[in-house]
Amino acid sequence: MDASERALDRAAHNAGPRPAPAPGRRAAVLSGVAGWVPPGTVANADLADRLDTTDEWIRTRTGIAQRHTVPPGTATREMAAEAGRLALKSAGRDTVDAVVLATVTPDRHCPATAPEVATALGLGPVAAHDVSAVCAGFLYALASAAGSIAAGFADHVLVIGAETFSAIVDPDDRNTAIIFGDAAGAVVLRAGDPDEPGALGPVRLGSDGAHSDLIQIPAGGARQRLAGTDPAPGEYCLRMQGRKVYRHAKERMSQAAHDVLERSGWSIGDVDRLATHQANARITEAVADELGVPRDRVLSNIEHVGNTSAASLPLLLADAASSGLLLPHHRVLLAAFGAGLVWGAASLTWPDVTALSVHTYRG
Ligand code: COA
Repeated sequence: MDASERALDRAAHNAGPRPAPAPGRRAAVLSGVAGWVPPGTVANADLADRLDTTDEWIRTRTGIAQRHTVPPGTATREMAAEAGRLALKSAGRDTVDAVVLATVTPDRHCPATAPEVATALGLGPVAAHDVSAVCAGFLYALASAAGSIAAGFADHVLVIGAETFSAIVDPDDRNTAIIFGDAAGAVVLRAGDPDEPGALGPVRLGSDGAHSDLIQIPAGGARQRLAGTDPAPGEYCLRMQGRKVYRHAKERMSQAAHDVLERSGWSIGDVDRLATHQANARITEAVADELGVPRDRVLSNIEHVGNTSAASLPLLLADAASSGLLLPHHRVLLAAFGAGLVWGAASLTWPDVTALSVHTYRG
């Protein structure tokens, strides 16, 4: 067997089912959760003239009524720090061993934004890095943080998802300008027991780079810069093939969620709450239907915030927990999908935690 065959063999082995963590193993336990949205809102009606669209079209096709945008002079660092501060408060902590920030809208391409967030929060010289997995970024960051805890590298980790999509969306693009918004959400993980509420259960992550062009920012990366060609107008903005993305999002999230259910030893009837990345209300409903989760168990806040990429899941959890829709001991199935393509799913039993959510979008 040569090196490439060994790599394929390894990949096939890694893709197969794995047993759930053995009891007694050190687990990552959710101990705090928070969401933050900037006060500025853009209602569907505000987009109607520019995009030749209507409130009804956007609501019907996406479930979105409004999205938020950061005020001038602020960006991802400030939103991440706001959500991080609230999550630490929710967890009753003022120290952690590491900060992991999921974002594809860092303040600068280099350096990462997480170290500045850690400094802004007064956390001292802790480990801090960004994770780039677009709308699945929070689950990838969660897996990275949970791995550090399980390995004993850290006892407490702040995991943040924060996105300033208003900086990368073309305001004249009907496909994307109606969907994306700015926000941040965060959780604190601590070392604990796999059997206690809040312990992160099985996680399933995946990718398919063959479809990397379905959602992309064509210009600004090393490849385009080295090619020596001038980008066409708008190529620094996000481009999306909406229909194809829709199909992949539904299939990939459903499959990953199904795998996690099996690994968790849960049947579909055991799922009290389905929390999917808020890409589009129709995608969430299609995933729920595919899995067989009744609609009254499906969490949603997309109407008020739009698609907030890596911020979407922690913001949804914070919102649902603080409004009483997500309760201690609820069994929660999480799923996310994004550009890459990347996707993921995870499960956990909701802990007794005081969620802090800034409900500016509730007026
Ligand atoms: N307002 C009004 N009409 C619009 C429009 C808008 N904002 N966007 C597109 N249309 C029109 C098109 O011009 C087209 O008209 P035609 O039939 O006369 O040519 C028609 O609607 C269908 O266009 P299409 O691009 O196929 O729309 P769609 O039904 O696929 O809806 C999205 C577009 C973006 C809402 C949809 O594809 C979607 O939500 N995809 C998933 C996106 C997503 O979740 N991305 C994030 C993943 S993390």
